[in-house]
Amino acid sequence: MIVYLNGQYIPRRQAFIDVDDRGFLFADGIYEVVHSYEGHLFQIDAHLQRMEHGLRSLRIAADDLGSLLRSVREVAERLLVENDLTSGEATVYIQITRGSAPRTHAFPPAGTPPTVYVAATRYVPQRTQAEEGIAVILVPDTRWVRCDIKSVALLPNVLARQRAIEAGVADAVFVRDGVALEGTSSNFFGVFDGKVVTAPKTNYILPGITRQVVLGLCADLGVPVREAPILEHQLDEAEELFLTSTIMEIRPIVRLNGRPVGTGAPGPVTRRIQKAFRELVSDFKGGASV
Ligand SMILES: Cc1ncc(COP(=O)(O)O)c(C=O)c1O
Repeated sequence: MIVYLNGQYIPRRQAFIDVDDRGFLFADGIYEVVHSYEGHLFQIDAHLQRMEHGLRSLRIAADDLGSLLRSVREVAERLLVENDLTSGEATVYIQITRGSAPRTHAFPPAGTPPTVYVAATRYVPQRTQAEEGIAVILVPDTRWVRCDIKSVALLPNVLARQRAIEAGVADAVFVRDGVALEGTSSNFFGVFDGKVVTAPKTNYILPGITRQVVLGLCADLGVPVREAPILEHQLDEAEELFLTSTIMEIRPIVRLNGRPVGTGAPGPVTRRIQKAFRELVSDFKGGASV
């Protein structure tokens, strides 16, 4: 496997990060995951825009953002070729940190180059979960209040996912102040009275690329949408629930905290959205610009 690290294409086993890297010491960086279908990077512009938002917010590589983002796109495309991933599905992981410098909380001297790491790996979709749906639990949201930044500081997400696994379910949904916000690595949607509802874009959720695609598909399908908080106490009334992410696309939730959601099987609105999403992806693979 060939990866990219700081300007070089090298075998994975030769890629090492300095112990003074601020990503290692302070989780001082951001990441992005892009889904590739048949060698095409789905929604790449939206992913790069979100990276730009994160880098600007954290003031990383602020003076040369344009060329950094352009090079990331080229690197991602080249890694798909180098690793023979131009057919089937793959994911591209991108991480950028504030670089390497002796440990002190304040920023390193101007001119310290950011650390840029990119890797592409084969992705085998878990169609069973997409077909049959998953069980989830609710967990308190212990994250910071800048969840709109795709920061590598993922400890609350790690702990919540592990708690879900130990509870025998696939994932957890974060609840803050009585509002069900998002999954540990996904956005959260409900269907209430035939309307699709999802948390509005605030600093309390990641503005998911798949979330945005799904909202667009709902508009195309004539499914009414409301970007509004989903209250924990309303969840019993949900007809359907589902999660969205770049990696897993649209995943129905069929059990929440041990109780069935709706009929206990993926519902018709989720199915329509899943079908529309698959069609969008296959058009995209056919060369359409998405
Ligand atoms: C916390 C969180 N919310 C939402 C998402 C979904 O975002 P996207 O659809 O851009 O993958 C992710 C993806 O990793 C995530 O980590």
